[in-house]
Amino acid sequence: MKVLVTGGAGFIGSHIVDLLLAEGYEVVVLDDLSTGRRENVNPAARFYNLSILSEKGREVFLAERPAAVIHQAAQVSAPASVEDPLEDARLNVLGTLRAMDLCLEVGARRFIYASSAAVYGDPEYLPIDEDHPRRPLSPYGLSKYTADAYAALYRDLFGLATLGLCYANVYGPRQSAAGEGGVVAVFADHLARGAAPVIHGDGEQTRDFIYVGDVARANLLALRSDLVGFLNVSTGRATSVRELWRVMSSIANSDIIPRTAPPRPGDIRHSVLSHARAARELGWEPTVGLEEGLRRTVEYSAAAREAAAVRGAGLQGE
Ligand SMILES: NC(=O)c1ccc[n+]([C@@H]2O[C@H](COP(=O)([O-])OP(=O)(O)OC[C@H]3O[C@@H](n4cnc5c(N)ncnc54)[C@H](O)[C@@H]3O)[C@@H](O)[C@H]2O)c1
Repeated sequence: MKVLVTGGAGFIGSHIVDLLLAEGYEVVVLDDLSTGRRENVNPAARFYNLSILSEKGREVFLAERPAAVIHQAAQVSAPASVEDPLEDARLNVLGTLRAMDLCLEVGARRFIYASSAAVYGDPEYLPIDEDHPRRPLSPYGLSKYTADAYAALYRDLFGLATLGLCYANVYGPRQSAAGEGGVVAVFADHLARGAAPVIHGDGEQTRDFIYVGDVARANLLALRSDLVGFLNVSTGRATSVRELWRVMSSIANSDIIPRTAPPRPGDIRHSVLSHARAARELGWEPTVGLEEGLRRTVEYSAAAREAAAVRGAGLQGE
């Protein structure tokens, strides 16, 4: 079966591509490398460096005719969406609409896409389940929420079998620490460089950290199922930022003391999502514990840093 993965050069998309290939799928990747990296793309996949919104991107769908599409391509930064809501909506709303239209055009029946905990906004209760009110607090949350609504409508109007996977805070190897990267990637990068990261507020704010390999597996199970709708993909466990640093610095054998800064305005204090529905309906449960996932991430960042240093030394010697 041929699957097209948009955003397959990105952090999460590239892990999905690796897993699909390992499971025997034929995989096509469409990614414009705006935040993704060519090195992330498994050489066994067919790669097109194109935007989902371009005419050439459409031609790829027409030529490849995938049976299913896993849509990860997006603008993923909430602060960037506040800076430029129009561009965020172009990529996240129109990009998703475009991907679904192309599915209809080429007869791909299955559309699985990435949604985000940002659609829920300030929690009214914890853990957040799929019936929780959705009142996003950023243009990013709103664009993801709008894409969810379109996906539901395309299901009813056109019979496209859409399933949204609503990710909690995903972490793991290949996540970018640049800009507003996830806190785990930022911490891992600081540990690799021997630098002190900044913790905003008292560090007791909590998040639900889910390992990227488990997220990839949720996509695989979704692809094998006929399930439609919307599912949280999370651990259901809250971890504070301070606890995260404690575990990660102990894995790295580091005694660096983080710097502190005032809380970020608008930061949600606690967020944890229930994955009971995914367990019940998809048979999916997270399998990689926090300590193990963090170990893999810290080791990856240290190795990446070392490889970059060796490359730099090689260039200097030339
Ligand atoms: N990382 C998280 O914690 C998290 C949490 C919730 C939801 N998500 C969602 O998961 C998905 C993947 O996020 P990620 O963390 O891997 O980010 P990422 O930036 O690593 O991946 C996004 C990929 O999409 C590509 N892309 C962007 N615009 C494109 C376009 N117009 N055409 C083709 N490709 C394009 C980028 O180059 C990149 O490779 C996104 O939809 C994001 O909103 C991520």
